[in-house]
Amino acid sequence: MVTGGKRLSGRTKVQGSKNAALPILAATLLCADECVIHNCPRLSDVEASIRILRYLGCKAKREGNTLMIDTRDMSRYDIPSELMHRMRSSIIFLGAVLARCRKARISSPGGCELGPRPIDLHLSSLREMGIEISEEHGILECEAHDGLKAANIALSFPSVGATENILLAASVCDGTTILTNAAREPEIVDLADFLISCGAKIDGAGEGTIIIEGVEKLHGATHAIIPDRIVAATLMSAAAVTGSDITLEGVCQSHLGAVIPVFLQCGCEIESFRGDLSISAPARLKAPKLIRTTPYPGFPTDAQAPLMSVAAVADGITVFIENMFASRYKHVTELNRLGANIKVEGKVAVVDGVRRLLSAQVCACDLRGAAALTVAALCAQGESEIKGLSYLERGYEDFELVLGALGADIKKI
Ligand code: EPZ
Repeated sequence: MVTGGKRLSGRTKVQGSKNAALPILAATLLCADECVIHNCPRLSDVEASIRILRYLGCKAKREGNTLMIDTRDMSRYDIPSELMHRMRSSIIFLGAVLARCRKARISSPGGCELGPRPIDLHLSSLREMGIEISEEHGILECEAHDGLKAANIALSFPSVGATENILLAASVCDGTTILTNAAREPEIVDLADFLISCGAKIDGAGEGTIIIEGVEKLHGATHAIIPDRIVAATLMSAAAVTGSDITLEGVCQSHLGAVIPVFLQCGCEIESFRGDLSISAPARLKAPKLIRTTPYPGFPTDAQAPLMSVAAVADGITVFIENMFASRYKHVTELNRLGANIKVEGKVAVVDGVRRLLSAQVCACDLRGAAALTVAALCAQGESEIKGLSYLERGYEDFELVLGALGADIKKI
C-alpha cells in the first residue's frame, strides 16, 4: 500500500546486483573449494539459485549478505523443471554444469512475462564447443562425449546469458576460445572478475571480443558483487517523481552512463562523489523525449519501466522504443489506471506526461513493471494498492523498507 505525495530525503545503500550474483553463483560449480560471496542481495531469484546448488549436492550457507558456497560434493548434473521454471535465468547453470560434469539434463526454461525467451544462441554456441544437445518433451539432454573444446564463437546478437554460458564453459576446457559480439554488460565483467580470481584466464570482458584460455580447474575465491545499476536507476526514478533530493551510496557511476543523461534531460541535478550519487529533482520534470533500449552501454531495457513512470508525470511527450524484448510494456495498462496517458504500438510507447497521477489498485506482472508501479504510486494522489509483490521480490531487496526509510508512506501486507 503506497500513499503518494511524500517527498523523499536521506541516503540509502544500493544492493548488490541480482544479474551479477546469479551467474557468479552458477560459476561456483567450477571451483574446487569454498567460495565466499559478499554483497549478495537477499532476493527470491538468489534463493532459487541456492536451491539449485543444494539440489545438485552443494553446500550453501547465508550470513546476511554473505554466502559461503562449497560445491565439492556436487553429486548430480540434472536440474528438474520445477527448479528451472522458477527463474528463467537458470539457463546460466547449463554452461557451469557442463563444464564440471561434461553432461547436463535441464528442462528448457519456460517463457516468461517478457515474452518468448529463446535459447538458440546458448545452444548453438555450446554445440560449437563439442556438446551434443537433444531436446525431447522440453528436456535438454546435453553431453560432451570427448570433453568440451575451445572454439571461435561469433554471437549473432550480444546475448547476456549466452555470453555468460560461454564464459563458464570455456574457462575450464582445453584450448583458447575467442568470443566475438559478446555482451558488454557490467555483470559480464563482474562474472569474469570472479572467474579470474578463481584462476581463470579471461581477457577482454566488457569489450566485444573476449578471449578465454581454458585452465585445468579453478580454486575458490572471495568476491564482492557489484552494485545493482537497475535498482539505482529505480531509486533515482523514485526521487525524480517525488521532487526529492536523495543520495545513493555505493553506486558505480560508470555503469549508469546511458541513464544519468535521461535524468539530466528531465531537469534533475546529479552529483557523484566517491561511489555516492546524489540526485536533486525539480518540482516539475521535463519530458526526456526519446528513450531507446539497446545492449550495454546503451540504455538498459531493465530501466525502461521505471523511467516510464518518470515520463508519465513529466511535462511533454516521451517516445520509448523497446528493442530488447517482444513484450515488455505490460506495465502500461496499469500506469494508465493510475492516470497516465500512454499509448503502445508494437515496440513503441508514446507517453504524454500528465500533471499528477491518481491512486488506484494495480497489478504487477513482471519484475521491472512492479518497480515502475511502485515508483508511480509514490506520486499518485491518495493510497494505491499494488498486487504482485512476488515479482518485486525477485529483484529488489526489502524495497518497501528502503523507500520507507527515505520517507515514503509504504507498507507491505
Ligand atoms: C539478461 O537476460 C538479464 N537477466 C535481463 O534482466 C536483461 O533484461 C537482459 O539480460 C538484457 O540486458 C539476467 O541477467 C539474469 P539476453 P538474458 O540473452 O540473458 C534474445 C531483469 O529484469 N535472445 O541478452 O535473458 C532474447 O529473447 C532481467 O533483471 C535470443 O533470441 O538476456 C531477448 O529478446 C529481465 N536467443 C534478447 O535476446 C538467445 O539464445 C536479449 O536477451 C538468447 C537471447
